[in-house]
Amino acid sequence: MFKFEGRTAVISGGAEGIGLSIAKALGEQKMNIVLADIDEQSLLKSVAELESLGIPVLGALLDVADEVQWKSVAKQAKDKFGKVHMVVNNAGVGGDSGPLEKQETEGWQWALEVNLMGVFYGAKTFTPLIKEHGEGGWILNVASMAGLGGVPYSGAYTASKAAVVALSESWAPELKKHSIGISVLCPAFVKTRIYDSERNRPDKFKSDTYGAENEQSFLNQMKQLVKEGIDVSIVGKRVVEAISNGELYIFTHPNYRKLNQERFAAIDEAFERSEKSALLKDILNQKPEGL
Ligand SMILES: NC(=O)c1ccc[n+]([C@@H]2O[C@H](COP(=O)([O-])OP(=O)(O)OC[C@H]3O[C@@H](n4cnc5c(N)ncnc54)[C@H](O)[C@@H]3O)[C@@H](O)[C@H]2O)c1
Repeated sequence: MFKFEGRTAVISGGAEGIGLSIAKALGEQKMNIVLADIDEQSLLKSVAELESLGIPVLGALLDVADEVQWKSVAKQAKDKFGKVHMVVNNAGVGGDSGPLEKQETEGWQWALEVNLMGVFYGAKTFTPLIKEHGEGGWILNVASMAGLGGVPYSGAYTASKAAVVALSESWAPELKKHSIGISVLCPAFVKTRIYDSERNRPDKFKSDTYGAENEQSFLNQMKQLVKEGIDVSIVGKRVVEAISNGELYIFTHPNYRKLNQERFAAIDEAFERSEKSALLKDILNQKPEGL
């Protein structure tokens, strides 16, 4: 079981929303917290808030899409707290949405750089440091319910989050032997500012079509759903509960279970049809490899 007390967690996108909720919940468990975020103003405010709660905290500026900046965060965390035991790959953005033929390459690249490559850079930076101290650790990747089923008009976001679910499943058996646990958090709607992630889009990923009418109506719909989402404070507490139980998949919306059951059933039915195909009868009894 993961021991929280006296250990250190680095949380990307930790200055607000789900990241900050996780920071507070881990701080309540007496962890040292490193908030790493691209938004300096939010960062200063949240560091002050955690300090006022008596949580040992360090704020570090970070764009998760820049691997070099991760190295600097690792150095700052080690200088302040000695060792790091947990990395929470939480920073995420929406990317372009709307009809796929209207989406721009820049919006896809932005979503993939932040939501997918940011997770890889975070894990790649901290895994060797956790292996090095040998005390074990945990990597928590924040995906989404969108990672378990296609969200219409939101291909880039869906693809990035499905990849985060998949890479978490890939890393779990790989890192288990080094006493590093993996969890992937898959929330549905949570009341945060995710609908306004454009505020953090760098110029190089800006596209001319953002704000186009078709996209705007989709964004308004998403904004409404996020505003009606669950209270963000639940998410951090649920994460602590689930990591204490060693859970790989962490859900915050049990009301989405049926949708997932329907998806699994559809996949299983497709396997059943393949079992009945005369083309595949020689493959049926072969042992599956590689999983
Ligand atoms: N809110 C929801 O309904 C919901 C649902 C499912 C999954 N999620 C996921 O939860 C995670 C957190 O989102 P949130 O809802 O708290 O959103 P949010 O916009 O409230 O917070 C995101 C935080 O990430 C930071 N950030 C953005 N880009 C960054 C970058 N390049 N580098 C470092 N920090 C960056 C922001 O400054 C902000 O502090 C995301 O991965 C998101 O996809 C959110």
